[in-house]
Amino acid sequence: MKAAGMKTDKSDILTLLRNSADYVSGQQLCDQFGVSRTAVWKVINQLKEEGYQIESVPRKGYRLVESPADILSKSEIASRLHTKWAGRKLYYVDSTGSTNTDAKRYAEEGEPHGTTVVADMQTAGKGRRGRKWESPSGINAYFTILLKPSFAPDKASMLTLVMALAVAEAIEEVTALPVGIKWPNDIVINKKKVVGMLTEMSTTPEMDEIQYVVVGVGINVNMGSAEEFPEEIRQTATSLKLESGRQINRAVLIEHILTRFEHNYERFEQTLDLSGLMDAYQRRLVNVGAQVRVLDPAGEYVGISRGINQTGELIVEREDGSVSNVYAGEVSVRGIYGYV
Ligand code: BTN
Repeated sequence: MKAAGMKTDKSDILTLLRNSADYVSGQQLCDQFGVSRTAVWKVINQLKEEGYQIESVPRKGYRLVESPADILSKSEIASRLHTKWAGRKLYYVDSTGSTNTDAKRYAEEGEPHGTTVVADMQTAGKGRRGRKWESPSGINAYFTILLKPSFAPDKASMLTLVMALAVAEAIEEVTALPVGIKWPNDIVINKKKVVGMLTEMSTTPEMDEIQYVVVGVGINVNMGSAEEFPEEIRQTATSLKLESGRQINRAVLIEHILTRFEHNYERFEQTLDLSGLMDAYQRRLVNVGAQVRVLDPAGEYVGISRGINQTGELIVEREDGSVSNVYAGEVSVRGIYGYV
């Protein structure tokens, strides 16, 4: 029996209910988690207050009938996850500065590979190139996964592509929408951006080993009208709800992403390049055969994008016929006639 005052883990009880086709008796819950009947009853009541429909039948027990349409909480995500390491250690906060910053702190504190931080809102969400990432509450998904790989730092830029593919696949699974990837890691639907990613790495002082990498993902999920986007991105951004016409369950989406990411990461680890993932990535790449402007700090140039190579670089054929391999960490690519 747990000591008095110790919290019964809501996630464990919800997980058991979710994975049982039949009623789960109160006694079974008590025995499994070593808690009292009262403690179980309290958790069931909390879940009901959060909107879970739980049927209680005398002598049979409890049965989860329905979950709320879109609730973001630790229990909701954890009870759906079947991964080995991605998100197994899970932090959820209603509000934080930036989940990337939190994940970096957890890394320093010794949290394991795969630890994931999810927030309902961010007050200082970070975008790429020092930009802000607007992160209002109640509608979108913001999360960061912490990775502690043993490979060399020069391989880390590929992780963003590994995540981009996972996010694209997960969105397809959940919404059935056709999803594109704008190299290296923007996710686009109908030529508009729905997801942004920010990867940050810490290495040893000699820069020969990775201490940790954090991959942060921001998804416009249930924003219901273009007016909800900041003025400057209104023409180029969209949300899953705007594109699919229905509300999307954010916990389900995050669960699918973590599952796909774990799978893709393990595939990547086998070869330490993208050979096993290239076809799937390339199939979704929107800027193949398109004119692109490469914003290289050493000098901008224009060319035709020819897809990626095994290390995730974008192959760009220049106007003079020469071919450049563009490295994701260094430059950005813009379509000539618009965002994509
Ligand atoms: C971009 O500019 O496209 C990248 C946006 C990345 C946003 C996500 S939201 C979760 C994580 N925490 C942050 O502060 N940023 C990333």
